[in-house]
Parts: sequence; C-alpha cells; structure tokens
Amino acid sequence: MGAGDRDRWNNKWAEARGGTGHGSALVDLVEPWLPTSGRLLDVAGGGSHDSLLFARKGLAVTVADVSDVGLIQARQRCLAEDLMISTVEVDLDTEELPSGPWDVITVANYLQRDLFAGLVERLVPGGVLAVIIATETNLERHERPGAPFLLEPNELPLLIGDHDVLEHSEDWRPNGRHEAHLIARRSA
Ligand SMILES: C[S@@+](CC[C@H](N)C(=O)[O-])C[C@H]1O[C@@H](n2cnc3c(N)ncnc32)[C@H](O)[C@@H]1O
Repeated sequence: MGAGDRDRWNNKWAEARGGTGHGSALVDLVEPWLPTSGRLLDVAGGGSHDSLLFARKGLAVTVADVSDVGLIQARQRCLAEDLMISTVEVDLDTEELPSGPWDVITVANYLQRDLFAGLVERLVPGGVLAVIIATETNLERHERPGAPFLLEPNELPLLIGDHDVLEHSEDWRPNGRHEAHLIARRSA
C-alpha cells in the first residue's frame, strides 16, 4: 500500500455508496470467543458491515482505516440503528494503530504482513484476534484480489508468531472465495 491508498479507497467506497452490502464471515468465525462486553478494534474495516454486526452485540467498536469515506459509512450505518462506534483515520503504512488494549481485534481482507505480531501485543491477556484473508489459491477461480493481496498457503499462523492459535483453516468458503480463517489468543 502507499500514499495513494486514501484516495483510491475513498473513490471505491464512494462508488459503492453504502460500502459493502454485507459483512465478512468475521462475526461467525469469532462468535464462540466473543466476550459479552468489551472493546473491539476492526482493522481496515471502513465501508464494511462488520462494525455494525459487532456493535449490535453490545461491544464497544472502533474501526481503524485510511479511508475517511469508508469510516463515515461505517458510522452512519450504526447511527441508523442508534448505535455509536468510534473511528480512527490511520494510514497503516506510516502510522500506528491505537494501542488499546483491546479485548478483540479483527481483520478482514487486508494483508499487511508486518502488522500481525503487533496486533497480538495490543490485546489484553486472554484477548482474541480474528483474521480472514484470501489465499493464493483464490486465483484459481478469481482474478481479484491480485497476488500482492493474497496469503501464501499456511502463511497466516507464521505471521501471528508465538501465540495460541485456537483455530486455523484454509478452504473454499460459502462466499466462493478461498480464504484463511484464523483465531489466536494472547497468552494470559
Ligand atoms: C478490501 S477492503 C476490506 C474492508 C473490510 N475489512 C471488509 O472485509 O469488507 C480493504 C480496506 O483497507 C483499507 N486500507 C487500504 N490501505 C490502507 C492503509 N494503508 N491503512 C489503513 N487502511 C487501509 C481500505 O480503506 C479498505 O477499507
């Protein structure tokens, strides 16, 4: 990613108007480990419905993303249901994520390899990280996302580092994509 990310994603989210028409599979993936209350950080979650789905569950949601357009869409979607979320505009190429600590951190469809070890450090002891990113196998059926945005086979647990991986699988999913799904926990 580079300096043009903000403009590029602002244009994409503006064209999509309300952002994505659905969430990722994040909520279903992390549901068994979700606390009933607490602070959740959705990394690169601008434009997505995921923040709304987590806010509906009573979590205090913060979305961090480079796109102010995507962040406005996330806030407005929640406000339409009288739910408040926080947003942080941040270019993760050059800036740090908010330090937290967070009870839950989620990442869907955003691959920045040097980010992951630092994510676990931002969790409270016992806190949970949930990640969904497509793998290179996805290219067998789809031209996009291109290779720079795709994980190598079984790469994701290595990026997380020395933490409890509670769940990791790579497969074709109901959305038609080949995705890595991972849940990791920070040691207590
Ligand atoms: C493919 S979308 C995924 C959005 C959402 N997580 C989902 O699954 O629908 C990638 C997101 O990453 C954000 N993004 C791209 N480059 C970024 C950067 N350098 N720093 C922070 N966010 C970035 C974009 O604005 C966009 O919202």
